[in-house]
Order: sequence, then structure tokens, then C-alpha cells
Amino acid sequence: MIDNTQSIQWFPGHMTKTRRKIKEILPLIDAVAEVVDARIPVSSRNPDIAEIIEGKPHIILLNKCDMADKAATNQWIKYYKEQNIAAIPIDCKSGKGLSLFKDTVKTALADKLDAYRKKGMVGKPLRVMVVGIPNVGKSSFINRIAGNTKAKVENRPGVTRGNQWFTIDKQLELLDTPGVLWPKFEDKAVGERLAFTGAVKDKILDTELLAMRLLENLSTGYRDLLTARYGELDFNCDSWELLIQIGKKRGMVIRGGETDTERTANMLLEEYRNCKIGFISLERVEDYA
Ligand code: G4P
Repeated sequence: MIDNTQSIQWFPGHMTKTRRKIKEILPLIDAVAEVVDARIPVSSRNPDIAEIIEGKPHIILLNKCDMADKAATNQWIKYYKEQNIAAIPIDCKSGKGLSLFKDTVKTALADKLDAYRKKGMVGKPLRVMVVGIPNVGKSSFINRIAGNTKAKVENRPGVTRGNQWFTIDKQLELLDTPGVLWPKFEDKAVGERLAFTGAVKDKILDTELLAMRLLENLSTGYRDLLTARYGELDFNCDSWELLIQIGKKRGMVIRGGETDTERTANMLLEEYRNCKIGFISLERVEDYA
């Protein structure tokens, strides 16, 4: 028997310091590139980012697109475009999509480049701050795009020493976020989705409960994938029963014919995280329209 009243307990994040550091640095940057997890582009964001960056041109990098549902990712790109936010799918594991980054920055900052040209400031590089909550792949992105360029310590007036600047080429410099941006801690659904993807690695929820919640999420849009992976399933039941069905299909039975639900839950989470069930996006535009 499991306690399904249990919920994720978050420690309050200390955003104040990061907020202040970002605000300090804003006058020095031209745009913000926000790395999100393409499978959960809502939950993998800092909820205050739009307000913190005060209208700076904003580019969204839908990372881990190799693990996401391609159709859902394309919908998100369209959705952001309608809001005048450039978004590109990237895969920092293979490097796919990264070649689009520089051109996307230049397009997003076309007015600024034009103004530089008119003032004869042709060599002035564009400066982009890269932000993202932990585990979205921000370091992988910077490593991929900056290659072997060493981080340089910035000594410009007003810029705190130790900020991580990377010179990409003559036209582009990147700055890593000064501090840590946290997700929307207080939202239970956000915590669960981060736990499904493995972004939150602590054991914040009972494994069986987490697997049940995952099944609830998958049952809305991905029944076909569940059936293809585990065989014919009866979805007219609660997620606990569904977990038991899956365990039985996999022969995860203990003495007396009872399903080993903990083993089933671990298997399900592991197979979801490794994309063995398929390429799945747990947040889709239509859920937010
Ligand atoms: P962070 O700086 O935002 O905290 O994230 P980081 O780059 O450390 O990446 C977090 C995890 O996500 C790493 O896996 C990394 O390999 C993986 N990752 C990053 N980008 C992608 C991507 O586009 N696709 C896929 N499939 N994975 C990606 P890890 O298991 O923590 O470490 P490891 O596998 O690199 O050893």
C-alpha cells in the first residue's frame, strides 16, 4: 500500500542573489539565450525569467530534442514565433541544431547590428547571456558552442570578476549565468516532471507514486506507445492498476502471483528516461492554449 497523499517537499530557493547579479549584468548584454528541456519546456524554466531579463531579446533553445516528440517540439517553435521569440531545437549530445545558433542570434539582433553598422561599430561583438535551470544542458551547450575557447575573466567596469565569458568568434561572446536559476519549486506538477526526466535526482517521491504519476501523464497522449512497448493494456482503471498490468506483462511477479510494483516502477521510469517507450513530450502547446 502506498501513501498517495505524499507530495514533493522543496527547499526554498535563494533567487535574490542571482536576480541581483543578472540585473547588474543586463546593461552589458544584447540578448538572452534560455536553454530549456524540449520534453518539458514549461516546467524546465525559471518562472520569473521574462521579468528578470526586462525585455532583452530572448532566444529559446529547446535542448534534448533528440528525446522529445518532434511534432510537439515543432508546435513549441511555432508558439514562440507567434510571440516574437526565436526558438530552435538543439541536441547538445550530438551537436545537432547548434549550427543554427549564430544565425538565430544575428536575426534576433538584426536591428542592433544595423545600428552598429550605421555608427561604424562594425567589429563590436554581440553579447549573449546563457541561462537555464540546473540539468537542462546549459554546460553541454556552452561546451559544444565554445569548444576549446577558454573562459576569460572579465574586468570591465561594473562587471563582477569571475563572470564566465566565452569568446565564440569575432562577432559573438557568451556569458554563463552568474548564479543559479531555479524552477518553479512550489508547483507540484513541475517537481514531478523534473523528477520523471531525472533532472531532480534526489528521491523526492516514492518511486511507485512517481511511476503512477508518469503513467497518468502518458495515458493522456501516448497510449499507443505504452501499448507498443508493454502489450495490450486496459486503460479503464487507475494508474496503480495500470502499473500492476505493466508489471504482469513483464513477468515482474513475486511469490503468490502479486506484481512487484517497486521493480515495475523502477523499470518504467528507467525505460521512459532512456526513450525506450518512445520520444515523448510531457508538455504540449495544446495543454497551455
Ligand atoms: P546543466 O549545465 O544545465 O546543469 O546540464 P548539463 O550540461 O550538465 O547536462 C545535464 C545532463 O543532460 C547530462 O547528462 C548531459 O549529458 C545531458 N544532456 C545535455 N544535453 C543533452 C541533449 O541534447 N540530449 C541528451 N540526450 N542529453 C543531453 P548526465 O547523465 O548528467 O551526464 P553524462 O551523461 O553527460 O555523463
